[in-house]
Amino acid sequence: MKELGKVYFGTNTKMYKNIAQTVDFLTRLDTLTTDLSRETLELFVIPSFTALESARRCVPPERIALGAQNMGWEDEGQFTGEISPLMLKEVGTQIVEIGHSERRHVLGETDWMENQKVRCALRHGFTPLLCIGETGEQKALGLSDEVLRTQLKAGLHGVTAAEAARLWIAYEPVWAIGVSGVPASPAYAAEKHRVIRECLVELFGAAGARIPLLYGGSVNPENAPELIPLPNIDGLFIGRSAWEAEKFDRIIRSCLALLE
Ligand code: PGA
Repeated sequence: MKELGKVYFGTNTKMYKNIAQTVDFLTRLDTLTTDLSRETLELFVIPSFTALESARRCVPPERIALGAQNMGWEDEGQFTGEISPLMLKEVGTQIVEIGHSERRHVLGETDWMENQKVRCALRHGFTPLLCIGETGEQKALGLSDEVLRTQLKAGLHGVTAAEAARLWIAYEPVWAIGVSGVPASPAYAAEKHRVIRECLVELFGAAGARIPLLYGGSVNPENAPELIPLPNIDGLFIGRSAWEAEKFDRIIRSCLALLE
């Protein structure tokens, strides 16, 4: 993490905050984090589609990057219910989150679909944030490493080493996410981040060594400082514990203090 020179902290607000709540959250978060140098911190928020435009107006992109929670992989067409990359660009979106566990396991997305989205996001100049992670059952069967490698190889198929320089990856074990999730132990997370790093280096050489790897899944004020110093954990992707600006700011500060 130290070699990258930056630590990544972000949150996806899922289907929770409306426009007013998003604007309020972002305005507070921006004020609270105003003194933190962006040379070492990359802060991002991924709100609902409907809040993106107002969100963009209330915080500058260099202070808080904004992402979309999903994206269609064609520019336009007969795709009812999908959002085009051009529409996301129009509202100043920088990051596209792809393959969150809820997209894969509740909405039925496949590795092939995630791959179309990753390549489309790269074509349009977004930062794709590809989320991967094994289910509890796969973990119990000892398949975690195979699953992670498959999700990476399938999800990143056709991506060049030059394009890989714009990728971010989040490791979010399915069993660790959400209200009934159990956070991964720091040792387990570090081990899986090592597996992911090795696979990325296998795929992209030196560029793979520089891809930011974020851990997500029940990150909270207690475990964040244990996770962030670990090798190959370049940042944290947080749900519930980040949805109050004050709490998110405290987590960020406690982690940054450790890295100084
Ligand atoms: P959680 O969510 O931190 O609330 O477990 C993580 C996520 O879904 O990215």
